[in-house]
Amino acid sequence: MITSVKEILENAQKGGYAVGAFNTTNLETTRAIIDAANEMKSPVIVQITEKTMEYAGGRAIFNLVKNSAEFYAPEIPIGIHLDHGKSVEIIERCAEIGFPSVMYDGSRKIFVDNVSVTKEVVEFCHKRGMAVQGELGSVPYLGETGMGDIDWDEYMTDPEEAERFVSETGIDALAVAIGNAHGFFKERKEPDYKRLEEIRKRVSIPLILHGASDWENGRVVEVIKRGVCCFNVDTSIRLAFVNSLVKAVRAQNDISFDIRKLLGDARKAVKNSVKEKIRFFGSEGKA
Ligand code: G3H
Ligand code: 13P
Ligand code: ZN
Repeated sequence: MITSVKEILENAQKGGYAVGAFNTTNLETTRAIIDAANEMKSPVIVQITEKTMEYAGGRAIFNLVKNSAEFYAPEIPIGIHLDHGKSVEIIERCAEIGFPSVMYDGSRKIFVDNVSVTKEVVEFCHKRGMAVQGELGSVPYLGETGMGDIDWDEYMTDPEEAERFVSETGIDALAVAIGNAHGFFKERKEPDYKRLEEIRKRVSIPLILHGASDWENGRVVEVIKRGVCCFNVDTSIRLAFVNSLVKAVRAQNDISFDIRKLLGDARKAVKNSVKEKIRFFGSEGKA
């Protein structure tokens, strides 16, 4: 059942658990996420990036997610969301397709520019009933600084700025940087829990954590306690997919080259990985 992302996040926030926002790239990953959510009776968000829209076709992948959610999990709240939209043009394209929720990622801009473009996106989206996630501070990417050490202070969300950012832009959810990083990065020794507490005190909208798909359960629990109600997950499920595919291709000993068998195994591996995350996040049974 397609449900508003805002409602899914607000329910998680009220209920003291987190939901997973899982990135899809294709049919196998889409079905794996939706089937896992259905089996675990868990709300989920399925996310699509601009690169995936280029790869699969924006309308094609959007409708694949929508139709699969409606047909294969009619009783489970499933949100559809654009992940890391970096331009106004991509937001407009998503509005045209029918995305109910988008992220505008102006995190690499200076504060005033991030505020002004995010605000413009919010005005555009809210008129159309779409929700908007913004990002302040910046969640780094694997490879960005080589494998060397990183100056985390350059990336962190400033709590005072977060309060101004939310009130000046009118966003519905905020992605925060507290030592988290995209990909399997050498992360900060410890997330900055104090900073998260300070942000939570100043900001009442749902807080999103990107790049934590490699976090062990202890950290996940600690940030949920401090107000995170959504984790973005991409790398860990990509890895499950690719590891399974490589294994299946190597083990193949017939000559039928049945793509459905090879990708079917990968789909199962992704489904298991999504189920594990759902268990960690505490959203099992919350549908
Ligand atoms: O956080 C963003 C994604 O992990 C990057 O995904 O390769 O589809 O842009 P992409
Ligand atoms: P990972 O790639 O670390 O799983 O992060 C995903 C993410 O933040 C997508 O927006
Ligand atoms: Zn991200």
